[in-house]
Amino acid sequence: MTARLEAIQGDITKQKLDAVVNAANTTLLGGGGVDGAIHRAAGPELLAACRTLGGCPTGEARITKGYGLPAQWVIHTAGPVWHGGTGGEAGLLADCYRNSLALAIDNGVRSIAFPAISTGVYRFPIDRAAAIALEETRKFLARRGEIEQVVFVCFDDANFSAYRQGLQTG
Ligand code: AR6
Repeated sequence: MTARLEAIQGDITKQKLDAVVNAANTTLLGGGGVDGAIHRAAGPELLAACRTLGGCPTGEARITKGYGLPAQWVIHTAGPVWHGGTGGEAGLLADCYRNSLALAIDNGVRSIAFPAISTGVYRFPIDRAAAIALEETRKFLARRGEIEQVVFVCFDDANFSAYRQGLQTG
């Protein structure tokens, strides 16, 4: 649909964009997966900054500097844990994308990378998560022109193929 959206396969900690999004948990105090990778690459100052934030409810987003990362900013969002889909998981995942993009704009971000939020430890089905990520981001970009580039950074083949398919059919 738009040249402002793309999917790549790779490591989000290497992305030289204004901001990278972290698939965090509600404590914002670190974890495994992409959260662990971002904290390792950014260094201990990131955890120190996160400690001052007092956590982040599921679906919301918070921002810190990127410290040792090539990205200037990290936007931390807490995705929903998948419990079968009847607990509002889809809406909460959509909130993560919308709130992260809104916070990005508030901080002058023009280019931003997302991981596939909730599709690891939190077990959100990959195809559904990719569809929600793309739909919510497209809706947001249609409303707001400030963001110039959104890159979905897929770590694994299944996510990469889901995003590629979603981008083709959008
Ligand atoms: N770059 C891009 N994507 C990555 C990377 C990376 N370096 N590493 C993993 N992924 P997960 P969640 C992908 O489990 O499901 C943490 O402990 C991975 O393949 O990182 O939202 C937090 O602290 C998957 O597709 O996040 C929370 O407690 C996607 O990132 C919890 O996990 C998300 O997998 C959050 O679970």
